[in-house]
Amino acid sequence: MFEILNKQLVADNVKRLDIYAPNISQKVRPGQFVSIAPEEGDERIPLSVVDSDPQKGTISIIFQEVGQTTGKLGTLPINECIFSILGPLGVPSQIERRGNVICIATGIGIAKVLPICRALREAGNKVIGIIGARSKKDLLLEPQMRLSCDKIHIATEDGSHEQKGLATDIFEKVLADKKIHFVYAVGSVDMMKMVCALTRKSRIKTVVQLNPIMVDCMGMCGSCRVKVAGEMVFACTDGPEFDGHKVDFENFKKRKKAIEECDECHNQKLPLRSRKKGSGILTKLFSGFLKE
Ligand code: FES
Repeated sequence: MFEILNKQLVADNVKRLDIYAPNISQKVRPGQFVSIAPEEGDERIPLSVVDSDPQKGTISIIFQEVGQTTGKLGTLPINECIFSILGPLGVPSQIERRGNVICIATGIGIAKVLPICRALREAGNKVIGIIGARSKKDLLLEPQMRLSCDKIHIATEDGSHEQKGLATDIFEKVLADKKIHFVYAVGSVDMMKMVCALTRKSRIKTVVQLNPIMVDCMGMCGSCRVKVAGEMVFACTDGPEFDGHKVDFENFKKRKKAIEECDECHNQKLPLRSRKKGSGILTKLFSGFLKE
């Protein structure tokens, strides 16, 4: 079970794995994710399912090697089995026919938006994709996004590919030029916040996919709390998608920063079971360090 059938380098430090997971492949919907432990005793990591094939019984994930667990996952060879995959998790995306749709994504968010673009297009929407990265070498999945969108715009911050600047610069222009009925955004907090500020003015329904630190992915640890419409909710069980106009981005940013500044959890140097009692992310979370 969970055999790696194919492995691909998508960009620097970004890999794609096609995994045999027949039960998950039958059930997973766009917007959902799985929780993966590469080997027994490893920390679990949440990863979006980018693609699935119920006929072959496979799911595909794309991830950036940024910590110990993703690093280990990236070293597993073809034909090796992953110890545990839980899922599908999270609330599936609400895919409806809305008209002209913009899907904007930056960084690893491009892997998350790809299945959403496909599903929205299949539902009869005209999908305009806007993707951005620091430079050409960091840009993910351009050919796949071209195939999944009716039109694509690309921004690189250093100008090494297509338009120089930020994805939000292009977004602003497209918004001014065309009647848009729906926006889907996933990427950096600043990008999603800006997109929501722009669409709020024109009252365009905007959905964002949030990516807080998740530990158990089951709604029990509280690490993924986000403030939406004035209430604390869990991204793992209530999300990861939310109405962007109701998300408290400042609160979300503050919580993310606090976790990222915690060396132990940011570097993910220790599996959870070996962390010392009284230290680490879980203790901080439970003791209210990151409470509202
Ligand atoms: Fe623990 Fe969501 S990851 S409550």
